[in-house]
Amino acid sequence: MARCVITRKLPFDALERLRSAHEVVAWRGALPPEPAELRELARDAEGILAMLTDAIDRELIDACPSLRAVANLAVGTDNIDLAYARERGIAVGNTPGVLTETTADLAFALILAVARRVVESADSVRGGEWWTWEPAGWLGHDVHGATLGIIGPGLIGEAVARRGAGFGMRILRSGRSPGPDRVPLGELLAESDFVSLHCPLTEETRGLIDERALMAMKQSAILVNTARGEVVDSSALRRALESGWIAGAGLDVTDPEPLPGYDPLLGAPNLTVVPHIGSASHATRGRMAAMAVDNLLAALAGEPMPSPVG
Ligand code: DGY
Repeated sequence: MARCVITRKLPFDALERLRSAHEVVAWRGALPPEPAELRELARDAEGILAMLTDAIDRELIDACPSLRAVANLAVGTDNIDLAYARERGIAVGNTPGVLTETTADLAFALILAVARRVVESADSVRGGEWWTWEPAGWLGHDVHGATLGIIGPGLIGEAVARRGAGFGMRILRSGRSPGPDRVPLGELLAESDFVSLHCPLTEETRGLIDERALMAMKQSAILVNTARGEVVDSSALRRALESGWIAGAGLDVTDPEPLPGYDPLLGAPNLTVVPHIGSASHATRGRMAAMAVDNLLAALAGEPMPSPVG
């Protein structure tokens, strides 16, 4: 029986399988533990079921000499120092595949919501401002038949592309991996009506959508980010929206994250921000928890994780 730490209260059935095999200690706070609190909580742990909000960095790893396995409740692993974990022989797992369609649903929801001004027009009804049918009011942008640029055409990017094809969209793809239908990033930015980000956060993609990239987009274009906040330069995005370099943005992820209510970005026009809910459906979060538990159980039994990273 190994000691495992879960870094948040998780209401999913899969956790029972972990509890019946190991000693499990769960962080009880509603907010993530601070780094020092996590180091204290996990100092004797052999396994950690971690969230994307937990920095599993060198300091944490050094503070946990018994640590053998980290199972991330996410497909992204930018919160983990993978190189150092590997050096220390710690197995790391994630949850690819199970959240693909759910996250693509949300990306498409943001495309539609920003294009058709769903959130702001609904807010106006709640504000008692629906005076009449407006012949030239609440005009937005057509999604059907438009050009959709996918940056980072992995599983989620392709799932968004399939949705776009269902709307009769022309799809452009740009990414690191070669493919017959890839176009250079500059071409994608210049030609797309919607640019949807699906690349992992790496040193190469941090700040990829900067002032230059935003200025290269069409003035009528909409940017959607369901990848990681740091892929977009937030202050450049604010300037882009305020100055009309682009027509709007829909963000599921932000930099910083969480985005405080007083952040100047929220004052920008034509912006919809949701709180990192890409994978947040009942079924998908349950499947992610099951996968993370499977990863942890396997590694603690000395077997390969079913979904290893790296
Ligand atoms: C992930 O899994 O990396 C998403 O950002 C959260 O579901």
